[in-house]
Amino acid sequence: WGLRRGGLPFRPIAPVPAATDAVTVPAGYRWAPLVRWGDPLLSHRDAFDPATMTPDVAERLFGYNCDYVDLLEDPSGRTAVLVANHEYTNEGIMFPPAATPEELDRQRRVAMAAHGMSVVALHRRRAGRPWQHQVGARVNRRVTATTPCTFDGPAAGSALLRTVADPAGTTPLGTLNNCAGGTTPWGTVLSGEENVNQYFRARGTAEEKRYGFADKETARGWEHVDPRFDARTPGYENEVNRFGWVVELDPQDPTAPPVKHTALGRFKHEGANVIVGRSGHVAAYMGDDERFDYVYKFVSTERYRPGARHRARNKQLLAAGSLYVARFHGDSPVAEITGTGALPSDGAFDGTGEWLPLVVDGTSQVPGFSTEQVLVHTRLAADTVGATKMDRPEDVEPNPVTGRVYVACTNNTDRGAAGKEGPTEPNPRTQNRHGHVVEITEAGDDVRATTFGWSILLLAGDPATTSGTYFAGFPPEKVSPISCPDNVAFDSEGTLWISTDGQPGTIGYGDGLFKVPLTGRERGRVQQFLSVPTGAETCGPVVRDRDGMVYVAVQHPGEDGVWGAQQSFFPDYVAPGALEGGRWGGPRPSVVQVWRD
Ligand code: FEO
Ligand code: CA
Ligand code: CA
Ligand code: CA
Repeated sequence: WGLRRGGLPFRPIAPVPAATDAVTVPAGYRWAPLVRWGDPLLSHRDAFDPATMTPDVAERLFGYNCDYVDLLEDPSGRTAVLVANHEYTNEGIMFPPAATPEELDRQRRVAMAAHGMSVVALHRRRAGRPWQHQVGARVNRRVTATTPCTFDGPAAGSALLRTVADPAGTTPLGTLNNCAGGTTPWGTVLSGEENVNQYFRARGTAEEKRYGFADKETARGWEHVDPRFDARTPGYENEVNRFGWVVELDPQDPTAPPVKHTALGRFKHEGANVIVGRSGHVAAYMGDDERFDYVYKFVSTERYRPGARHRARNKQLLAAGSLYVARFHGDSPVAEITGTGALPSDGAFDGTGEWLPLVVDGTSQVPGFSTEQVLVHTRLAADTVGATKMDRPEDVEPNPVTGRVYVACTNNTDRGAAGKEGPTEPNPRTQNRHGHVVEITEAGDDVRATTFGWSILLLAGDPATTSGTYFAGFPPEKVSPISCPDNVAFDSEGTLWISTDGQPGTIGYGDGLFKVPLTGRERGRVQQFLSVPTGAETCGPVVRDRDGMVYVAVQHPGEDGVWGAQQSFFPDYVAPGALEGGRWGGPRPSVVQVWRD
């Protein structure tokens, strides 16, 4: 355990056509599903059968559409706890069409139970080998759309968070659209509530609209099952405000309610990633994944203390601090930002930036906004201070080796469209289909800094067919084509790994996982490690190079299929519709493990 040298030797795979319904890994590696949608967590008696599953059983099974994944290994390397997010459900391929209103109601409740998070113990005989999940282990747990959670931080108990069912405004039920996340230095997992607007019929207020909520029937129809999903229901006007937060889950304590941290603000949280600064203060970096939305940073008031005996205190670090939003300044003349991706005359898309304060040590810095208003309606507060509109910032993650922060801007086809903002130096392409990655260096390498430097590391695309790609100066003809960067991770040496969401629609290849060295002559050399099945995006990812292991979540395989005409049979690959000894003839979002053969 831990004896291997760092780095994970592999020869990049060739890009895989999008219609390939398979996981592809490099020569010398093997893969297997680690845990699939519908696998039992609590008892072997809980059987998976999509056609008849009840909500009671569904909330005891691994949920749907796994996104963020991490493994918290113990020092032996033979046991671990896996934590996964379940972002959303796709009822059209999960279930046969409902024949009766009762059946439709059941499917909606099963869908609620398939949202949220999973915690599951893993076991293996020795390091470097594949794991098995342990049904019925003490830590195993599901969090769903109905699990009691708690609020902490300055907006907990705010009038903006109260409902008739929770007049104290402290105990929201459930977590929704859990997208990416991050594991904290104290061993808990943060999870971002992202596109929560899709679950609610709203009233149509200006605040709701800024978050994408609308006064129209939802496709999921949960408002017909539970009145809290309809903001027009008297007493539930604020239910929408109880979602869109960063949630902290303690995988060691299956009875602890997940905590929604109001101090980190409310928006379409992709995720949150924490780093401990030299001063001991922690920073959480966050993206708001919407076209023309923002990058944020939270800095704790208190300091981190190493050691297990300080764990309870460290779990309070995200309850109190300062919240900032990023403004980027380019250093090249505006006329040189042509929208094509052609480098300006100084040879780089780069410049300086400011972290604009929204809240400092619990006090609003935004005129006209109380602290509670800043935290609950963070997008509106950030609009007023002049934050920089980015091309859908997804993962925003500090490199644990260097402290530099990487922002994956996945794409923004509206950049430069009629009535929309045109190219800027930090978002330099019009109709940005392929996305880019921004590298941020905090002033003085201090997480508390209020200024920073930045440059664009990658302008993604297939150099063979896309103009205006850029790979940190590395020769484009020598990289793997890559488009729509979404999640990022770092290996033990601080090398960047990027997973993608959207390549089939832009460059025609399946989504995948890519290694990108950040230093030396290899800086910017994108190398594809794996590819995922038809319709899936690659999430997670986790790279444990010293253990020779890689993990990804295969999210939404076969997404564009319909019941009876499934487009993916990953990972069981049995006959369409068959249910054979726990294997199923339809797509099952799964966490995949890859190991050296
Ligand atoms: Fe759920 Fe921004 O991806
Ligand atoms: Ca420049
Ligand atoms: Ca994502
Ligand atoms: Ca995405």
